[in-house]
Amino acid sequence: MRAKDIRAKAGEEAITMLTAYDAPTAELVDAAGVDVILVGDSVGNLRLGYDSTLPVTVDEIASRTAAVTRAADDAFVLADMPFLSFGVGEAESVANCGRMVKEAGADGVKLECGKHTVELTDRLTDLGIPVQAHLGLTPQRENETGLFRQATDDDAAEEMLDLAEAHEAAGAFSLVLEHVPANAAAAVTEALDIPTIGIGAGPDCDGQVLTVDEVVGLAEGVAPFSKKFGDVRGEMTRAIEGYVDEVEAGEFPAEEHSHYQEELDDIY
Ligand code: KIV
Repeated sequence: MRAKDIRAKAGEEAITMLTAYDAPTAELVDAAGVDVILVGDSVGNLRLGYDSTLPVTVDEIASRTAAVTRAADDAFVLADMPFLSFGVGEAESVANCGRMVKEAGADGVKLECGKHTVELTDRLTDLGIPVQAHLGLTPQRENETGLFRQATDDDAAEEMLDLAEAHEAAGAFSLVLEHVPANAAAAVTEALDIPTIGIGAGPDCDGQVLTVDEVVGLAEGVAPFSKKFGDVRGEMTRAIEGYVDEVEAGEFPAEEHSHYQEELDDIY
C-alpha cells in the first residue's frame, strides 16, 4: 500500500486505520486487512504508563514503529511524531521524521497540525515523506485545549477547514479529524480531495481510526466515541489468574510439562 493508494480511496471505499504498538498486534491488524497502521503516540497512555502523550520520545516511537514494520506486510505504516519532535526547527523536524522512514521502516508520518506545520508538510512531501495531517482535538495541545470536543462554533470550524485546506495544498495525503462535530467533519470531507479519517467525527469521513487497545478491549475504558469489539483484558485476567492459581495449588507444571534425564539418577 502506498500513500497514493490511500488517497485514491477518498469518496470511493471506506479506509480502515488502527493503531498498533508491537509486532504481534501489527501482524493481526495487517492480516485483518486494515489499510493503515498508526504507531500512535497514544502508546504513551495505553502501553507506557504515562498520564498523557506528552512525555513520549522519538526513540520510543522509532522502536515501536520498527517492531510494527517488521510484522506488517501490506498495511501502510505511519509513525506518529511525538510532542516537540517536529515544528521547533525545520532541520530537526526533518531529521526526526526522516529517521522514522530510514531507520524504522515507516511509510510516512502523522503530524498533529496547526499553522506551524503547513510549511513542514510541504518540505517533507517534497522530500518524499508522506504526511498525514491531524486536526480537531490534538492531544499534544491538551495543556492549552483540554481533551474536549473541538470546532464547536463557527469560527473554530472555519479555522479547522482553513487549516485542512492549507495542509492539503501543502501535500498531505490524508487528514485525521479527531473529536469534532459530525457536521463539521462532513463539511471538511466535502471540501477536500484527500481522504478524511475520523475518530469521534461521525460517519461522513472517508475512513475511521481507533486505538487497537479500545477495539480489542485491552484498555481499561473506552472514549465515548469509541467501541469495544472484544474483551482481551478479561481474557488476559482469566489466563493470568489461572496460572497463579495452578502454581499456588501445585498443579502446574504437570507431568506433561516436565522431562527427566535418566543418567542424572547416577549422580544422586
Ligand atoms: O495516537 C493516536 O492513537 C492517534 C489516533 C487516535 C488518531 O493519534
